[in-house]
Amino acid sequence: MTTKSQAVLNWIDERFPLTSSIKGHLTEYYAPKNFNFWYFFGSLALLALVIQILTGIFLVMHYKPDASLNAAGVPVAFASVEYIMREVPGGWLIRYLHSTGASAFFIVVYLHMFRGLLYGSYRKPRELIWIFGTLIFLALMAEAFMGYLLPWGQMSFWGAQVIVNLFSAIPLIGPDLSLIIRGDFVVSDATLNRFFSFHVIAVPLVLIGLVAAHIIALHEVGSNNPDGVEIKKKKDANGIPLDGIPFHPYYTVKDIVGVVVFLFFFSAVVFFAPEGGGYFLEYNNFIPADPLKTPPHIAPVWYFTPFYSILRAVTYPLFGLDAKFWGVVAMGASVVIIAFLPWLDRSPVKSMRYKGPIFKFAVFVFVICFFVLGYLGVLPVSPGRTLVSQICSVLYFAFFLLMPWYSKIDKCKAEPERVNFK
Ligand code: HEM
Repeated sequence: MTTKSQAVLNWIDERFPLTSSIKGHLTEYYAPKNFNFWYFFGSLALLALVIQILTGIFLVMHYKPDASLNAAGVPVAFASVEYIMREVPGGWLIRYLHSTGASAFFIVVYLHMFRGLLYGSYRKPRELIWIFGTLIFLALMAEAFMGYLLPWGQMSFWGAQVIVNLFSAIPLIGPDLSLIIRGDFVVSDATLNRFFSFHVIAVPLVLIGLVAAHIIALHEVGSNNPDGVEIKKKKDANGIPLDGIPFHPYYTVKDIVGVVVFLFFFSAVVFFAPEGGGYFLEYNNFIPADPLKTPPHIAPVWYFTPFYSILRAVTYPLFGLDAKFWGVVAMGASVVIIAFLPWLDRSPVKSMRYKGPIFKFAVFVFVICFFVLGYLGVLPVSPGRTLVSQICSVLYFAFFLLMPWYSKIDKCKAEPERVNFK
């Protein structure tokens, strides 16, 4: 560094912790040397967030949250999306980056969460990282749900109608609550405007705040790794973990490889299959919202369907409250229960590599059930499908609720002293 640039840096450092932050979070932040494939998804989730925010900023320049009809009899909101797609230079690309980005975000976040499950990353001392993660997941669901109303297509309208109506099943406060959420007795212009405001400002702010908290908590305790060994326990004479390597340049470079591979697949979808076979953008949503015409089959977007299936699996009233109420409770519980994993897992080891056959089998069954529930959630109900989703829902909850028991009695292998790195 020249003396002049060093002088500028010193000037900044006396007023702002620039060098110390770069050292503390990058060049002298020691991450385990054995990160594998699964460790790409944290940085990819960050990338997905940035893509959504940047493309969102440009979409808002042309999008209009207005449910009234234009001269051609088409809702203004729907027409503004068509305008972006057909008239705005590059508008189609920005819109498809944003709509595909939403699905990509969930794929990445689901894989990121699954990594946590594989390697016990939620265990002490990372409980708060996990709790912030669950809150991020909830906020992300709210963000995606409200965003889906904005194009004001048939699925936007009827999806919102079905989901907001669910809140009315809550005793006492339910009807008023759904009225407050909608701002009207049916999904209308008032709903569109408040969902727009939440989607564009409120929830993204919450998301950014939670992601910051997530990473601050991570950097406080340091990353877990595929062996579940705490690298801070074995340090050299300078206090540097023996199994740690500086995050920069080692993992910044490695993460760039992940970014390139991700962008390869992401662009393939954006350019060649932006509707994702009707899973990323549902076909019914290319029809303007019509409050007088209910589509024959209303299904949420794929990333909600495992939880939606759990909701539909509850068909019995209980304690004088109808099945719809218990369905909402089960759906809510199926997400919230994820936050409790750190206290449900009593296994003596963290990583799946050293866990016993029972835990491995439980995770296997859980994953199958999650996929089956996800698949059933996009299909119309039938008695057979309801039965399968009931079985899968019971197994879903059993995975969590029986964990304190089976994780304790399982025969685990001994954890190694140091990480495995070949
Ligand atoms: C916007 C969404 C999210 C972003 C941007 C994000 C970002 C990150 C980043 C950059 C890391 C460090 C790199 C890595 O370990 O892969 C990380 C670690 C972690 N995240 Fe997330 N995350 C998100 C959502 C979640 C969710 C939904 C959960 C779980 C419910 C979660 C749980 C964790 C855990 C447990 C770790 C520590 C992993 C370890 O040390 O093994 N994250 N996150």
